[in-house]
Amino acid sequence: MYRSPNALPEDSRRTISAALNAVLADGLDLHGQLKVAHWNLKGPYFAELHPLLETFAVSLAAHNDSVAERAVTLGAKAYGTARHVAGASRLPEYPQETTRDLEHVKLVADRMDIFLVGLRAARADADERDDIDTVDLLTGIVTEFEKHGWFLRATLGE
Ligand SMILES: [Fe+2]
Repeated sequence: MYRSPNALPEDSRRTISAALNAVLADGLDLHGQLKVAHWNLKGPYFAELHPLLETFAVSLAAHNDSVAERAVTLGAKAYGTARHVAGASRLPEYPQETTRDLEHVKLVADRMDIFLVGLRAARADADERDDIDTVDLLTGIVTEFEKHGWFLRATLGE
């Protein structure tokens, strides 16, 4: 671990950074999957879903950067190559042959649920170690992605 401006003990910073790296792997994977859906979906909802998925991807890219930089701020490294993400992500692979618009919506919504489980777990790790700033960062992402999930589930009529 590197020296950090954060005052938490090193073992706390190590644990929280590991949780952040797990979220980062999921987030980078989800970003690629969102783009695959954005590119390939076809059907009557194309006009709404194509830009909506891009909005999600752009916002997620910014969050991924914040999560990575929080891990480094805490004194760790941030891991994010495609090969690392392929091994570390907790999301299932995306079925890239999918074309139907609503099938993509279901696939993306299911993966967002998994992303949220990881976010909440990382937030609980940070909360246990009194890192309210990481909790704050992750809560912002949780609330936003719960809202995105609602958009998708509403599109499915769920
Ligand atoms: Fe695009």
